[in-house]
Amino acid sequence: MIIAIDGPAASGKGTIARALARHFGLPHLDTGLLYRAVGREALVRGIAFDDGPALAELAAALDVSALDPEPLKAGPVGEAASRVAAINEVRQALMTLQRDFATQAGGAVLDGRDIGTVIAPEAQVKIFVTATPEARAQRRHAELVARGEEVTPQSVLDDIRKRDQRDSSRASAPLTKAADAVELDNTTLGPAESVARALEIVASRTE
Ligand code: DC
Repeated sequence: MIIAIDGPAASGKGTIARALARHFGLPHLDTGLLYRAVGREALVRGIAFDDGPALAELAAALDVSALDPEPLKAGPVGEAASRVAAINEVRQALMTLQRDFATQAGGAVLDGRDIGTVIAPEAQVKIFVTATPEARAQRRHAELVARGEEVTPQSVLDDIRKRDQRDSSRASAPLTKAADAVELDNTTLGPAESVARALEIVASRTE
């Protein structure tokens, strides 16, 4: 069984994906981490966000088994990830890796922006997780403050809106709900309620 979870920044898709993976005993890949790793390397090495060939080289050299999520969750890395994710060569370089993960024996849970549309269009279960920009900004703000970052709620909201715009309007695999995805709006739901709703969706798709 392949479960595809897509949605915008800070929609809570990671929480849902992790919970479903645990529940069904499936491996989980947070595909945003791949773009974040490329974005972070580009920042560290001073590679321009529009240098397709150099960015694709970074992407091709990624060691997925050695990704440390901690430094990849920083605010500036999220912004850099969104920039490199708009580059077609980067998406192509990360494609095989994600396909291999999705199609491994026994199944997998993947979360990202284009899992149900591009990476695993054959997934039996597709969930499109949404929440208002304000609700997502509030969650992301709390996360960043807990990490010790000095950010204002307004700057986080501005950043979320900018990323929504970039992730949805790019030419290569933009964020869109797959026609056969079920939408889960969790604006007014807590994490436990979101997961419960996601489990209902999986049940409805697999019975
Ligand atoms: O989910 P996230 O915030 O960790 O993702 C970081 C960026 O990576 C996001 O702005 C868009 C990009 N991304 C993507 O384009 N496709 C994916 N499958 C996952 C993430």
